[in-house]
Amino acid sequence: MILNTELEYKGDMFPSTITTYTKDVDVLHFSTANNVILQLTVLRDSVLRFRYTTVGKFGKDFSYAIDEDASRGYNHLEISDDDEKYIITTSKLICHIFKSDLRKSIYDANDNSIICEDEKGFHWEESYELGGDIVKMSKAAQNGESYYGLGDKPQHLNLKGRRFENWATDSYAFGKDTDPIYKAIPFYTGLHNGKSYGIFFDNTFRTFFDFCSERRNVTSFWAQGGEMNYYFIYGPKMQDVVTSYTDLTGTPELPPLWALGYHQCKWSYYPESNVKEVTQKFRDLKIPCDAIYLDIDYMEGFRCFTWSENYFPDPKRMVKELADDGFKTVVIIDPGIKIDNEYSVFKEGLDNDYFCKRADGPYMKGKVWPGECYFPDFTRPVVREWWAGLFKELIEDIGVKGVWNDMNEPAVMDVPGKTFPSDVRHDYDGNPCSHNKAHNIYGMQMARATYHGVKRFNYPKRPFVITRSAYSGTQRYTSTWMGDNVATWEHLQIANIQAQRLALSGFSFAGSDIGGFAEQPNGELYARWIQLGAFHPFCRTHSSGDHGDQEPWAFDEEVTNVVRKFIEIRYQLLPYLYTSFYQYSENNIPMLKSLVLFDQEDNQTHYRIDEFICGNQLLICPINEPNAKGRRMYIPRGEWYNYWTNEIVSGGRETWIDADLDSMPIFVKAGAVIPKYPIQQYVGEKEIDQLTLDVYYKNGKEDSELYEDADDGYDYTKGRYSLKKFNVAGSEDKLIIRIHKSGKYITSYSTFKINLLGLPFDVKSIKLDNEYIDLEEVSFKDNTLVVSKEFTNLQIKG
Ligand code: GLC
Repeated sequence: MILNTELEYKGDMFPSTITTYTKDVDVLHFSTANNVILQLTVLRDSVLRFRYTTVGKFGKDFSYAIDEDASRGYNHLEISDDDEKYIITTSKLICHIFKSDLRKSIYDANDNSIICEDEKGFHWEESYELGGDIVKMSKAAQNGESYYGLGDKPQHLNLKGRRFENWATDSYAFGKDTDPIYKAIPFYTGLHNGKSYGIFFDNTFRTFFDFCSERRNVTSFWAQGGEMNYYFIYGPKMQDVVTSYTDLTGTPELPPLWALGYHQCKWSYYPESNVKEVTQKFRDLKIPCDAIYLDIDYMEGFRCFTWSENYFPDPKRMVKELADDGFKTVVIIDPGIKIDNEYSVFKEGLDNDYFCKRADGPYMKGKVWPGECYFPDFTRPVVREWWAGLFKELIEDIGVKGVWNDMNEPAVMDVPGKTFPSDVRHDYDGNPCSHNKAHNIYGMQMARATYHGVKRFNYPKRPFVITRSAYSGTQRYTSTWMGDNVATWEHLQIANIQAQRLALSGFSFAGSDIGGFAEQPNGELYARWIQLGAFHPFCRTHSSGDHGDQEPWAFDEEVTNVVRKFIEIRYQLLPYLYTSFYQYSENNIPMLKSLVLFDQEDNQTHYRIDEFICGNQLLICPINEPNAKGRRMYIPRGEWYNYWTNEIVSGGRETWIDADLDSMPIFVKAGAVIPKYPIQQYVGEKEIDQLTLDVYYKNGKEDSELYEDADDGYDYTKGRYSLKKFNVAGSEDKLIIRIHKSGKYITSYSTFKINLLGLPFDVKSIKLDNEYIDLEEVSFKDNTLVVSKEFTNLQIKG
């Protein structure tokens, strides 16, 4: 027997004294006596990257998350030291690095207040089970600190007091405390003393976050492998933190406008006659709808890129007929490729060696819907290219407009862990690794390949993709939904939190399965859920279908009418939603704003979960209880108009708001200019010959924007867009609306219909571009007028 081996458990290990410091422009290296190196990169005045190695040498720097167009550059960088520490100063931050142990403290350069300080700081543990190190970071929690972010976690919006794991997991019928679920987004925002910062731990292994759960005053995060590699992002405004993170990990290009319409889905609509029945009913009942989904049953034996001849004998004809009626067809494509030598996709994948393999050589075999499958290694560029090419027939020939990627955690049935075993090998874009490292980005790389395929074959129109699994940065390629939720009131609340949380984690284009995927909602729950979904960036009803129907008419007439009413509101608000998508895509601004993001200085907002801002100026609060005639809600500070009554309320307080089944609490920020389209049954049904602007009077100033383009295609990238900035300024007897325009796109309408809401005076005169005009000339009646869209200055006087 061999005794006395050197295999001892060393416990947590820590960096020792700094022995050398070097600087190469904006990259600083601090090395310790025990071979730890901290590499600090100054990316921006408010963004620092910290990277550690414990072996005296860094591996190749590679990330799927970071956008190649992320901003870089700072105004000021100064480095000094004293006996105790190095001091790195930018125009926004001061970072101290302690010579004795490599710990760090970060301060606001303006007022020297502490923002974020290491507790133990970086430490690590050798892992004989997993190989490599478990890399850890711990931070002192500040007084009253709150935490937000982490993607799709179905728990309280404020993460404080909880511990989380990031490991993409197929989670059928997940619940309020299920963790982890489908996505891995290792980014959070901390808020204390009115100031906010963010941490993005760009590590794709299984990661953990503890927000004062294990120890009351400590927040920590760690990973079962890979590097301690994180970005520190300073605000102090939370919105700037989210915006900077989104800049770092990217935003999607604009979707086709129809993608912001209403989508109808079920597992599954088939055969063709059933699809037609459903779409016809939308048109008969005049419920707007833009997209119809085909779930796995459209395929031949669940083989991706095939069609069931029996159910869909002529897909090209069907897709065209649907398109003629305004419906865009979206089809599901899963990663599992059925093992079948007669099946061309399988044969190609096999012949070219595109499938993932186990460590000792055989292909990774697992059961999914089609039975035994192999799985493409989407982390290989050549495989992504092959995959993209597979969409030619679906998109270019048949005319499908969007692709739905599911089961891409990846989900495997009937195995422990419900995914690939950890020994499965991946290319990781030329950085070969095990599944431990590639698991969390597998779905992202699938969606990326799908996006490129759909884009290529749909060009010059824009692609639409939706994914279930995601890692940070996935938002560049695709929209997302929250997976298999349940038809309960609690899940309506979860859906609300998840959409807000995803938006403040850089992923705005998201929505839940409206009505719930598993089980069946009653009409009331479905109606309340549609009300919420109408204000989510992605709006789709989906259900497993085995508990009955879930179309807007599946309940009773009252419910159908409520559903129609809210989908119509969404269609009227399309220019508003599109503008907010533009602000997200172009300026990294989240499309939904939790109240804490909207007004972090108001402590009342730190634990609010139900109320949120859609875009910049609509305050929404869903009813998430049965039999409600209204609810109590918090109105954030400022003045708000009740959308239904135009009554004005002052915020900063909780109040009761009436909302029978056909209503929900909606408020508009005073001073807002809300653009509206006429109701259409689908995007493009009507040529817009007049745009309505609802102008909400404010005694003070408010800015609004309106972005428009051709609603699809890429002309906007060549300057053919129209951006209007509205500035509203009101006083006791006057309201001035100014417009500043840019862009070359010529809108189809030539006039605005302006509704002046909440005016505290009777209108006596109107000045248009500095000339008094006859009220009749602008058809002035009941505070409504029609003016040329070319005006730049409109003065309404009492
Ligand atoms: C998964 C998806 C669900 C889909 C079903 C069948 O459960 O999450 O949306 O309908 O698979 O494809």
